[in-house]
Amino acid sequence: MPDAKLQSVLSSLSQQASELNALPSICTMPDARCVKLDTNENPFALPAPVMECAVAALERQYLYPQDDNISLREAAAKAYGLCRDQVIAGNGSSELLGLIYKAFLSPGDAVAMISPGFAFNRKLATLQGARFLEIPLTEAYLLPTEQLLFGPAKDAKFILLANPNNPTGMFLPVAEIESLVAQSDRLIVLDEAYVDFAPDNALRLLDRYSNLLILRTFSKSYAAAGIRIGFGLGHPELVGRLRNLQNVFNMNVIGHAVGIGILSHREAYEENHIHIKRERQRVCVALSQLGFSVTPSNANFLLAQVPPGQDGTWWQASLKKRKILVAVFPEDGLENCIRVSIGTRAQMDAFLTAVRDISGRLQHDPGR
Ligand SMILES: Cc1ncc(COP(=O)(O)O)c(C=O)c1O
Repeated sequence: MPDAKLQSVLSSLSQQASELNALPSICTMPDARCVKLDTNENPFALPAPVMECAVAALERQYLYPQDDNISLREAAAKAYGLCRDQVIAGNGSSELLGLIYKAFLSPGDAVAMISPGFAFNRKLATLQGARFLEIPLTEAYLLPTEQLLFGPAKDAKFILLANPNNPTGMFLPVAEIESLVAQSDRLIVLDEAYVDFAPDNALRLLDRYSNLLILRTFSKSYAAAGIRIGFGLGHPELVGRLRNLQNVFNMNVIGHAVGIGILSHREAYEENHIHIKRERQRVCVALSQLGFSVTPSNANFLLAQVPPGQDGTWWQASLKKRKILVAVFPEDGLENCIRVSIGTRAQMDAFLTAVRDISGRLQHDPGR
């Protein structure tokens, strides 16, 4: 039945909020029976001492969390060799991305992102009424520095790149990023969500450049996606402007406790990271043998072009029938690809068994 009141309410939405309705949802319905390999979580328990911090924090549930996340920011500053004022903490790095868009973009402004990239940025740009410029890497898979500095992105208020990138997993040498940061006088937001699975990081550049803001998250390499812990690292003046925009009590006591716990027990994750890199290699080889073309990855996932005949969405649906969830990116020109997160050995065995089953059936009946 048409609801006139609801229609009236919805017609008062801002133009940006109305436009968001047209964007595809990035949420999937979690089904406990599924092997969830579509959002790059790290499916391991917290190390015991970190879990103890979480449980102890529950006893402080009646208190508001510390405002401005001071102790967590101090712990992060110590771990990353910075001072407290160079650190902002958030409910995951996505909260911090949201603050950056709010702080720098007015309706009609432009932001540039290396594409394909993290799709959430498209939503954030729409929310600000901003133009979202997607600039691909060069043919040699290098940063399109000329285009970013002098081409279509020359007026963008900030430039966003992720290293390693999502959804490709590709890693750019830090020297290349430094060259862009050095030549540009605009803000470069470097999203290092997956950097703990990569051979290098750009932290050392913060000493040299005030136009660089690095984002980190504990959702991927520290198995804490559900607790929501992220950091922005940069010049105190820039970080201070972002902290001004932040909600009071934006994080909670568990997030603070787990964040501080992780920062003091980072060595406890060494085995986890070794496991993920090893599994990544094993799955990469197995998929290649099955006719997939896999992009070399430095993250906790693989982007794989499916064998000719079917597209990524077909494979996603076929895997879903076997209770395996993977991601696809048709809106990014990656129609023939699936992205699979690297999880436990058992999860990856289940994924490969399903892929082999589907491949076998396709060989018997290619018209399926
Ligand atoms: C490149 C990139 N940045 C940021 C995020 C957001 O992470 P979180 O908000 O969980 O910290 C993700 C999550 O998938 C991501 O892939």
